[in-house]
Amino acid sequence: MSGERKTFYITTPIYYPSGNMTIGHTYTTVAADTMTRFKKMQGYDTYFLTGTDEHGQKLEKKAAEEGVTPIEYIDRIVAETKELWKLMNIQYDDFIRTTEERHIRIVQKIFRRFYEQGDIYKAEYEGMYCTPCESFWTPTQLVDKDGVKVCPDCGRPCQPMKEESYFFRMSKYQDWLIDYIETHPDFIQPAKRANEMLTNFLRPGLQDLCVSRTSVKWGIPVDFDEKHTVYVWIDALSNYITALGYGTEQDELFRKYWPADIHLVGKEIVRFHTIYWPIMLHALGLPLPKQVFGHGWLLFGTDKMSKSKGNVVYPQPIVARYGVDALRYYLMREMPFGADGNYTNESFLIRMNADLANDLGNLVSRTVAMIEKYFDGLLPAWDKAAGEPDGGELREHCAALPARVDEQMEKLQFSQALAEIWKVIGECNKYIDLTQPWVLGKDPEKKGLLGNVLLTLAECVRFTAVLIAPFMPSTPERIFAQLGVTEERLKTWDSLACFGALPDGLRVHKGEALFPRIDVNRELEALSGGKSEAAPEAGKKAAGEAGKQEKKDVKQDKKAEKKHDEPAYPDEISIDDFAKCRIQVARVMACEKVEKSSKLLKFTLSLGADGERTVVSGIQKYYAPEALVGKQVAVITNLKPAKLAGIESQGMILSALDDSGNLKLVTVEEGVADGALIG
Ligand code: ME8
Repeated sequence: MSGERKTFYITTPIYYPSGNMTIGHTYTTVAADTMTRFKKMQGYDTYFLTGTDEHGQKLEKKAAEEGVTPIEYIDRIVAETKELWKLMNIQYDDFIRTTEERHIRIVQKIFRRFYEQGDIYKAEYEGMYCTPCESFWTPTQLVDKDGVKVCPDCGRPCQPMKEESYFFRMSKYQDWLIDYIETHPDFIQPAKRANEMLTNFLRPGLQDLCVSRTSVKWGIPVDFDEKHTVYVWIDALSNYITALGYGTEQDELFRKYWPADIHLVGKEIVRFHTIYWPIMLHALGLPLPKQVFGHGWLLFGTDKMSKSKGNVVYPQPIVARYGVDALRYYLMREMPFGADGNYTNESFLIRMNADLANDLGNLVSRTVAMIEKYFDGLLPAWDKAAGEPDGGELREHCAALPARVDEQMEKLQFSQALAEIWKVIGECNKYIDLTQPWVLGKDPEKKGLLGNVLLTLAECVRFTAVLIAPFMPSTPERIFAQLGVTEERLKTWDSLACFGALPDGLRVHKGEALFPRIDVNRELEALSGGKSEAAPEAGKKAAGEAGKQEKKDVKQDKKAEKKHDEPAYPDEISIDDFAKCRIQVARVMACEKVEKSSKLLKFTLSLGADGERTVVSGIQKYYAPEALVGKQVAVITNLKPAKLAGIESQGMILSALDDSGNLKLVTVEEGVADGALIG
């Protein structure tokens, strides 16, 4: 090959080591690893960065609670994080820690440069301050408790307070950034997140950003004003370039890999990566990352998993029981990348049985078993004269598969890429049923055709094994072993350029089932009892809790919970599609908790001239029922009625999750009549 290979640089967020990494952190990291492996397989020179964001008050506090120094506490979590990534078969190129000298030095240099070129200025920060938490809050963050504004973290009263801080003049770059986003449609993905940024933050006008604190000790000192430490985002975001040696003599990696191809982040931090980070880079005279992809959340019920809510699922017990590839597959398959989705043990177990044990596992074992039975375990040669029973349709579909997978991967649609592969696996299984090799096997004259059928299947299995490798790195070798494929050249992306590369005469070896079928009920029981082995204590307990709560959820108000899943929206719908929904303004006349449910509220809604409705909604934990009476809300009123906890719900109240995962009802400005149509 001549010339330089194309580079591909991908990052995950650097995670807070305030506790062990959850299945949520694992989700992003597996996605980045899968993408890296895919690009590597295609011949790219890849670089994959992950790491930890180690400064801030929270970490200082956590360590103090455990009676250790911050760095002792963090070192332990980082060691466990690295163990977890090893377990998950994550092949990162570098793991950056923001407490490393290489990072600290450059952050100080960047901060100083911003100050010297006038992007940063010193002023007073005014806000409401919670003394026990040592935190400033904006008026909207404060929580009202019996008429007193209290701290959203600890619930204690806050006082007005001033603190000297450095500020970054974000407003200076606002117009440039709006223009950049508008002229670079791929920069923020999914595209709807670009609109959110423009509409919610950029067009209304950017506030200058507070970038230092005098009250936080566990941070990077501002080297020209040591009372201050660098506050959060300049420290954290810079990791993507400090890890590459930016600003040092050894900046080969930076020169080679920057700008990054993709920053993968959860949707709650898209704002920081698509507003502050581009502005910082622009102020440094650097090119912007090619893309920031904000993926959805793995939810638990309607909640984002969070350590503080105690509804966290850890990967270790799942991996210990079912293997790493099963979990990696599930994470990449279950929800479209970009949308939210619920993690449940049940959906995981169902997928394992359906997709892995049945579809893939059966295809491999049937193919190998038939080659053993009818051809003494030796792959037959292609018999030209015998032809193909389906006119070559399966072969063509399989030959076109790599391009289809590539197309989805280019869009980071992991789930769709897998769906494409599984479509062909499904076709293979149908092909077996259709061609009935066991019938062909009885007729010596059909031997040639039988050979062609099995050879086609074997080649499809090889294609599958190559294509699933980025997702499930340890499964392909087990498939190749059964197929008798040993030559490396038959395991590559390039080898998929031509269908029919399998040489005849290979000896197949029937092996163990790739993924044994499992008894879902028994496994649910085992997971809820925490019987899995070789899992860390924390993980065991969490899986147990997950299992217990889940069973309740499955039975109870699953529909109410599902409401906040983001389905895979089509890119475009017609006005007629939209017109099918009747959305009306309704006034809450009465609202009460549904007995025996911890989630549901029952609403009596007035639609003005259209009468009254009863609607049940799973939002109990976000609102006190009394507080909603008199409010106007938006309701879909022609939705098929559904029974929730025995009550017929005649519509759906619209709401949205805010940045902290709290639910907020959609409402209208004053002066709109009850029953008015929204559209
Ligand atoms: O935000 N579903 O760190 P963090 C999906 N240090 N993704 C999840 C998830 C869930 N339930 N839970 C976590 C920080 N994640 C900052 C980032 S970057 C310069 C600084 C993933 O420990 C997801 O990628 O809170 C999310 O954005 C990230 O972990 C948050 O990790």
